[in-house]
Amino acid sequence: MKTVKNWSTHSAAFNGNFFLAGTGTGVGKTHWAADYIRRHGGWYWKPVQAGTEEETDTEKVKRISGKPEASFLKERFRLNMPASPHIAAEVEDISIRLEDFDLPSVSPLLIEGAGGVLVPLNKKDTLIDLIKHFNIPVVLVSGVYLGSINHTLLSLSLLKANGIAVSAVIFSGRRNSSSEQAIMQRFSDDVTDWYYWDWEKEATNALPDEPLSAIIHPFTRYQDKPPLYIVRGEGAYLIDKRDNRYLDACGSWWTNLYGHAPGFIHEVVSQQSSRLTHVLFGGVTHPPAEQLGAALLDFLNGDYQRLFFSDNGSTSVEVALKMAWQSAKIKGKPVKRFLAFQGSYHGDTFGAMSVGERDVFVEPYESLLFPVSFLPYPEKHAEEAIWDALKSVENWEEIAGLIFEPIIQGAGGMRFADNELMPKILAYLKMKGVSLIADEVMTGFGRTGTDFGYQQLGVVPDFLCLSKALTGGHLPLAVTLFTESVYEPFKHTSINRQFFHGHSYTANPLACSAALATLAHYRSSKGFDLLSATKSATEALYKCFKGHSALQNPRVKGTVFAAEVKTAFSGYFYDNPLREFLYHTPLEQGVLLRPLGNVVYTLPPYILKSSDWELIQNALENTFNQINDV
Ligand SMILES: Cc1ncc(COP(=O)(O)O)c(C=O)c1O
Repeated sequence: MKTVKNWSTHSAAFNGNFFLAGTGTGVGKTHWAADYIRRHGGWYWKPVQAGTEEETDTEKVKRISGKPEASFLKERFRLNMPASPHIAAEVEDISIRLEDFDLPSVSPLLIEGAGGVLVPLNKKDTLIDLIKHFNIPVVLVSGVYLGSINHTLLSLSLLKANGIAVSAVIFSGRRNSSSEQAIMQRFSDDVTDWYYWDWEKEATNALPDEPLSAIIHPFTRYQDKPPLYIVRGEGAYLIDKRDNRYLDACGSWWTNLYGHAPGFIHEVVSQQSSRLTHVLFGGVTHPPAEQLGAALLDFLNGDYQRLFFSDNGSTSVEVALKMAWQSAKIKGKPVKRFLAFQGSYHGDTFGAMSVGERDVFVEPYESLLFPVSFLPYPEKHAEEAIWDALKSVENWEEIAGLIFEPIIQGAGGMRFADNELMPKILAYLKMKGVSLIADEVMTGFGRTGTDFGYQQLGVVPDFLCLSKALTGGHLPLAVTLFTESVYEPFKHTSINRQFFHGHSYTANPLACSAALATLAHYRSSKGFDLLSATKSATEALYKCFKGHSALQNPRVKGTVFAAEVKTAFSGYFYDNPLREFLYHTPLEQGVLLRPLGNVVYTLPPYILKSSDWELIQNALENTFNQINDV
């Protein structure tokens, strides 16, 4: 059997004129035409162009190939409507007839068709009739997609039945050798040459080797190594420029639930992107936001009645803080400060920084932050100190609210709150009339074992902040949900009783559609099984390491396994070599983790297979076993 040659390295000019057909639209036909003209020159002609508002195919080939105007022939039909030629022509009251096309007397000439070989030109003729009319061989571009084997076999069968020679088939897109074989074995004698054209790889190879140093990355020091150059995501794996694969064991900063670019989200978002990609949300609404709002309220079992969209975890927190503050002011309370827990992290905007741990990250801005009283984190040993702090509050009316991360404090070191103490504190504060703001930006969507952490605490917080996994890790979106009683003071016509806050991309339709798809999947029986399997596997991982001599306080909750590497240092210890070691050692074994100082944890997407868990276990074991040498 013939082999499939790499178009990028073995491309040869075809003899004379040929007709370029595709197995469908959007298979890379026009891009390949541009690549052909760039490499081999010759003439280009698109006899029928349907759709002229955006860039036409001729303009596209000119632009991409970079070849002079002189090699391009004018279209015979330029139809405005982007539709099948016979429809576009009918709209303009034009008839397309085969006699209208004379084969130009230039050579070599590439004639580009319009979509697949059976696309109608008029009531009787299709592209195959036009090819026969020209009497030239065909080059067929076959896309690599689900269903492309069928489309390619159908196209080749039709060409063969009509006695049309096929100079080459170009498999365009990421390689799939088994699809190629399935097609080649049936048409081996009928096609002169077979090529694959991995344009994605070609584009990747053309990237500069070094990342742009002008880009400043989040939480990265000046002296840190250049970033990983990730070009693709496949399931739970991230793939870099050199085809190295990394298991995303931290779920890309806790955002990712179902892997990278999963089909079921991608499909919904791409459908939405052809309808409405963005619209202002002030005085306007749209179906994805309406449907998502309703779906979230339903999912939360009537605990919340109102919601406000924004774009990220920090802004969801800002919204809650501002609303709690303003709501108290409207009620005439002399509010002066918020309560928060030591070690908490709520984001990087000023309000969110104010209620977070005042550590090295926040220190430069300390004088700009508003007053907050920090309570010790609810761990058993801190019980007395917490009650002392709470008893010392003289005027509860001065407290605008308590913000907290339910069950697990994330960036503060994956700390687990005491099961009994946390509910007692929350119940006490509720009794004192303090608004409770649950920041579930990290803990939402199953991370703590239940859908939301607050559901284990016997109290419905007044506010619920969600982001990260809300869109499955696909697009940025956040939502702050709140109860009707929070909103009560705002139900007034007076100007100073309105909640005037907003962001340009509030409730972006694409992000909302990603969230809708994610929520439906999460709530399905498949979603339930994936979460259960992740919890069991995380528990098993914990059992592997709970007795490891290099570790202290190994722990597990829901889909989070965490442990501290024993060291004399604490915090994020940026200057300690152990920090680099804990990041780079698993990475070298193909596992991407982002330890928090000496706290190593896993928080992966919910789609890992047993071999993936083995990879994580081995990488951690290798790392922990070398700790004494660091
Ligand atoms: C609990 C919590 N709240 C808020 C944030 C801030 O979210 P974002 O990074 O999307 O602004 C984070 C981020 O890690 C978080 O863990």
